[in-house]
Amino acid sequence: MKASLVATCLLAAVALASAGRLISPSDLGLPVVNDAPDFCHGLECPPFKLLKNTSQYQLREYEGAKFVGTTVEGSNFEAAITKGFTRLFRYISGNNVDNAKISMTTPVITFVKPSSDFKSADKNYTIAFYLPQQFQGSAPEPKDEEINIVDAPGVTVYVKVFGGFATGGAVLKEAETLRQDLIQDDISFKDRAFAFAAYDGPQKLINRHNEVWITAADSDSIGMNMLSLSATTIDAVQSALAAAQKAVAQMFHN
Ligand SMILES: *[C@@H]1O[C@H](CO)[C@@H](O)[C@H](O)[C@H]1NC(C)=O
Ligand SMILES: *[C@@H]1O[C@H](CO)[C@@H](O)[C@H](O)[C@H]1NC(C)=O
Repeated sequence: MKASLVATCLLAAVALASAGRLISPSDLGLPVVNDAPDFCHGLECPPFKLLKNTSQYQLREYEGAKFVGTTVEGSNFEAAITKGFTRLFRYISGNNVDNAKISMTTPVITFVKPSSDFKSADKNYTIAFYLPQQFQGSAPEPKDEEINIVDAPGVTVYVKVFGGFATGGAVLKEAETLRQDLIQDDISFKDRAFAFAAYDGPQKLINRHNEVWITAADSDSIGMNMLSLSATTIDAVQSALAAAQKAVAQMFHN
């Protein structure tokens, strides 16, 4: 393993251990949050509905939700995840204006912009954590300006599950296989970006659970591209303002 991947794994181990991964709620006889799937290990994970399941992939509908994310520029996959994870982990550990401690959720999501043949990827990656229910209404403002709280729209995604320790190359290969399977089944999708979802820390050596997500054609974009999402928000605010101005103007005309 590369040093950066080892560092990512160590960080993930600390995060998952401190989040109670080693003693899960079910071990203590407590109910597991949200009826989360087993692969969430009793941590909160973004709720979804399973719309379809085949031997190769699932179709899932995720609700709109708040995430905390950060974009790492000009990095390779492993280094980007280490850097992004470190920033986000500091945010949930109290590096926010409320000094609030926020529990770790799963998965760690990495947004990848692949080349059109899925053989390589853009060196800008966005890493995101789902915010726990407790902070879905309002999340503490980050102190680090490279961190964004994002209101992500609901999305419909095709999901391929795979095991092992995922490297950048493995993730691209799995996404390419999912893309080919969808093409084979005559399913259209958005191929501008896909997401890699990592559910396990490095202490888990077997039955590891990873996923790649490709957005369905009729879904909102698997935004989380922080720039385009904030642009959408700005557009929404501007059109609401324009509508209000128009309404006021009409009042004066009548
Ligand atoms: C989906 O189907 C496969 C077999 O085709 C099965 O192994 C798997 O457990 C199913 N997954 C879910 C979530 O139902
Ligand atoms: C990566 O991010 C930087 C800074 O936001 C931007 O200037 C650059 O165009 C991005 N690269 C790509 C290929 O999107």
